[in-house]
Amino acid sequence: MAHAQLPILRRGFGETMRRDAWWVQPAVVVLVFGSFIVYATWAAFQGKHYTFGPYLSPFYSPELWGSSPHALFGERPPFWPGFMPFSAALLILPVPGLFRFTCYYYRGTYYKAFWADPPSCAVGEPRKSYLGEQTFPLILQNVHRYIMYLAVPVLGFLWWDAFKAFWFDGEFGIGVGSLVLTLNAVLLSGYTFGCHSLRHAIGGYRDELSKSKARKACYDGCSVFNRAHMRWAWFSLFGVAFSDLYVRLCSMGIWTDWRIA
Ligand code: FES
Repeated sequence: MAHAQLPILRRGFGETMRRDAWWVQPAVVVLVFGSFIVYATWAAFQGKHYTFGPYLSPFYSPELWGSSPHALFGERPPFWPGFMPFSAALLILPVPGLFRFTCYYYRGTYYKAFWADPPSCAVGEPRKSYLGEQTFPLILQNVHRYIMYLAVPVLGFLWWDAFKAFWFDGEFGIGVGSLVLTLNAVLLSGYTFGCHSLRHAIGGYRDELSKSKARKACYDGCSVFNRAHMRWAWFSLFGVAFSDLYVRLCSMGIWTDWRIA
């Protein structure tokens, strides 16, 4: 049977027959995600006002080397070049930063929003060819599955920070900051446990997953978070930025950390 060849419709950049406000979502992503990247980069280079009492900013956690009592190994790493200003966040923030930047959900979102590739469904894009993630540089996005193994232990440290945030000079207490850091750990857990790579590593790679009950239960747990991965991604982004801001402003004396108990 003969098949008719249908012509491929190529739209010019931004051309579309859609009548809805399709541009709103990519514009909001540029604004929110772009602002987060600018703020997190600025905060990482500050090197000060990242602790307040028992609170430690998640951008600086775990503080491997640093000037606060939270530091694990001392003030300044011996390998750090003398001419370079040191900030504890520069050693650790690349892990959660790259984990988020290479996340499968965020990739789909910022390819549309920042690179207009395409800007939205059925809207013309600026390029005529699609190179995908099988060539350099986007093939590097595949490091996500390896960074996941580093991001999970960092999450463990954030839970430890949340626990410490309830102890003021050895006495149990609850400050607003205790709740802020705990909520941050909850949101980041929801985001991390729904990671596609984690779900694959936990059980997705198995042919007959149901044969291992424990593994199947973990996989199903990940699937619950995975179904709302987009929401966890955005809520945890706000949570981690606000946690840093909260600790920073308390440390600068601009905000008061109200004690609840
Ligand atoms: Fe989003 Fe792994 S896919 S964190």
